Amino acid sequence: MRIFSGIQPTGVLHIGNYLGAVRRWVELQETAECLYCVVDYHALTSEASSPDELGGAWRGLVLDLMACGIDPDRAILFRQSDVPEHTELCWILSCVTSFGDLARMTQFKEKSRGQQFVNVGLFIYPVLQAADILLYLADHVPVGEDQLQHLELARRIARRFNGRYGEVFPEPEPLLGEGARIMSLADPERKMSKSAGPEHVVGLFDPEDEIRAKVRTAVTDTGLTPGQDMSPGVANLFRLLELVAPGEVVEAFKGDHAAGRLMYRDLKASLQEHLLTTLAPLRERRRELAVSVDVEAVLAGGAERARAIARAVIADARQCVGL
Ligand code: TYM
Repeated sequence: MRIFSGIQPTGVLHIGNYLGAVRRWVELQETAECLYCVVDYHALTSEASSPDELGGAWRGLVLDLMACGIDPDRAILFRQSDVPEHTELCWILSCVTSFGDLARMTQFKEKSRGQQFVNVGLFIYPVLQAADILLYLADHVPVGEDQLQHLELARRIARRFNGRYGEVFPEPEPLLGEGARIMSLADPERKMSKSAGPEHVVGLFDPEDEIRAKVRTAVTDTGLTPGQDMSPGVANLFRLLELVAPGEVVEAFKGDHAAGRLMYRDLKASLQEHLLTTLAPLRERRRELAVSVDVEAVLAGGAERARAIARAVIADARQCVGL
């Protein structure tokens, strides 16, 4: 089993990223060969990306990921732009990708809606993502739910390439965890997302009083729609609590909810405590790593190991297509 996953370097690492993906990455490195990639080429597709922000963001993210438990001696932790084979394979794969498929991508539609200038990078973003995964012949990809459509496309691209040129790429399967869909605390109808603005994300390494305030002010009473027995905001708080607190704590609050005596204030206070307890060791480690880790050296080691795999696969792909 070979695992690949990626994360964008800009914006803070938030509890959606952690509970939806990164926590799983840490578990998987115990049992599988794992590659984890800081996808800086992808970040360029954002019109808001600036050289100053991007130039330093990967450094912070590497420390964040190591604080979460990613061990660069076990997993291959590297930066996408250090392995130029990603963009080479992207081009080859773009020639077996349907324009119509790309035009149907939800993320492209959302990000391009209302924009005056839509860059082509944003349009072919999912092809680069497919190249990231297929370049390592990865068969499993731990991600949050928002990436499922891109993964389905990566499978289609692999199938089309294999059908036309011969079996080279396995069709990668998503690995979804319990926290695959964490919603914004400020607007529980939308996903917690870096691009939505700071009020919508709880950063893993944000000051403690900010984390407490975001949980305390989480929206709960948006009203029920028919068939719902919990508002989306309360359901999101329960989902988060399940991910950070012992089962009996969650059961007690669920009992209160069923009996109609749940106090949101108590639910939020419990979530604040259990969330901060879960994050405490990471936050502590982040402070230590900031002064002890040579990020450039970590990435150089990761890139060398990643390239050893990538070079062989790209050579194979080139030969198959007749280059
Ligand atoms: P990115 O950087 O937006 O997010 C990184 C990971 O965090 C997950 N995630 C969430 N999970 C649950 N709830 C949320 N609210 C939430 N927000 C984010 C994402 O699903 C993701 O797993 N396109 C990708 C990066 C990428 C990639 C790849 C991923 C590039 N190439 C190849 C896998 C394989 C992205 O923008 O993730």
